[in-house]
Amino acid sequence: MVKILLVGNGAREHAIADTLARSTHNPKIYAAASDKNPGILRICEQTGGEIALGKPNEPKFVAEVAQKFSVDFTFIGPEEPQFLGVADEVEKAGIPCIGAKKAPSEIEMSKAFMRRLMWNHKIPGRLRFMAFKNVDDAIAYINEYAESVALKPARQAGGKGVKVIADLQAYLQEEKAEVKRKHTRDIYEKHMQPYTDIEDRILIEQKVEGPEYTIQCFTDGKTIKPLPLVQDNKNAYEMDTGPETGGMGSIGGPGLTLPFINEEEYKISASIVEGVVRAIDRELGEPFRGVIAGQMMLTALWGPTIIEFYSRFGDPEAVNVLPILETDLVDISEAIIGGKLHKIDLKFKDTATVVKCVAPKGYPDRRDLAKGHPISVDEVAIKKRGAKVFYGSVGLENGEIITGGSRAVEIYAEAETIPEAADIAESCVECVRLKDSWGLFHRSDIGGLTLLEKRIELAQLIREIYNYRKEKDLIGRQVDWIPGRGRIEYQA
Ligand code: GLY
Repeated sequence: MVKILLVGNGAREHAIADTLARSTHNPKIYAAASDKNPGILRICEQTGGEIALGKPNEPKFVAEVAQKFSVDFTFIGPEEPQFLGVADEVEKAGIPCIGAKKAPSEIEMSKAFMRRLMWNHKIPGRLRFMAFKNVDDAIAYINEYAESVALKPARQAGGKGVKVIADLQAYLQEEKAEVKRKHTRDIYEKHMQPYTDIEDRILIEQKVEGPEYTIQCFTDGKTIKPLPLVQDNKNAYEMDTGPETGGMGSIGGPGLTLPFINEEEYKISASIVEGVVRAIDRELGEPFRGVIAGQMMLTALWGPTIIEFYSRFGDPEAVNVLPILETDLVDISEAIIGGKLHKIDLKFKDTATVVKCVAPKGYPDRRDLAKGHPISVDEVAIKKRGAKVFYGSVGLENGEIITGGSRAVEIYAEAETIPEAADIAESCVECVRLKDSWGLFHRSDIGGLTLLEKRIELAQLIREIYNYRKEKDLIGRQVDWIPGRGRIEYQA
């Protein structure tokens, strides 16, 4: 028997608990959580564990819970506990952790740290960037270099505050510069305002284009073991419109790749993540133990290119890959802790997977309105239709499941093809309803042929330009023509 403490209470953590519970090591699962997720609660109770309610971001709380239950190891789901040093505190108490310590988790927390690391170690897939500690310097830079950019909060800020502005044409340049200045001020005054744990405030990155995908990997700090690719869909509404969310649904497979990413691109993506894991070890002297994920884009500049890193599983991306993981997650965890991940042979069921997130109206911009609604989920009907529910941002109050303001449930389905899995998941959405008069929403297009063909077409176009550039030995190099300044060549 093995005792495990899970940190966090979203759908990703429900999927981790579900996967750990399938282990042949007869695990007893405990959770340190801010709410009672009904899915995690059920697994804890069925395995003989329990939930300790408190603040999963507080290192002392988690370390005390881990000691109280004498767990063999802790598995951290979300990023914030990592940024705040939960793994450091738990390990100080003598309990090993799956989940990055504070220093290596900077790969996600600080976008400037990540970019500097990639440049220092000349890792392919890196983008040009500038990081600013104050808003005036950032605006002065914008005034001088009016080009296409991605403006980002320099810290992981819950996926909010990123704006990509194309600015190649000579017309409307002053108007576009004004939009950039306004958004830069917004990042400084609004999106970065809650965070005092980082000096860099604003990141200005070169803009790239292409289909996005996520490569999630287990790592013990030396070896990485990549999981099948997943594509998350970040926009709130159909056909990639509306505000950015944490992800409204995701697709994967069949096999290790996606219909628009080939095997070579998969291997290059994995080697980029491996390069970063090794660079973290060399630069910090602190191995990254847990899950690291590259949020990638297929670009004409590099082919596989890093947009961001996660120091954890993505959510919903975890829900695509964990149900098809055939290797025992307790064995994987023990190999990570012992630095023996190279001995693990990762196996997955060969199937296409689709996850559809269902959220109360108001999410993502008005979480106050999306919060506090009683919700019912007909799990029996969903199971009958061949799918499975993972509970997300919900809690239990007086026996009633209440929404927490973000994605309430994630419906997982698998089939031979992505559109078939999407049809199954879609048919289950009606099994989720709010008991009051408030509404729910989801994206019916995720996994459908129209969106899939759009991704395939874009990838083909990008790949053609990439292959041409490769032939001409131009990978990682870019030539810009900036009005008034002339030709500028960048060499990575
Ligand atoms: N799916 C986006 C994230 O996990 O941050």
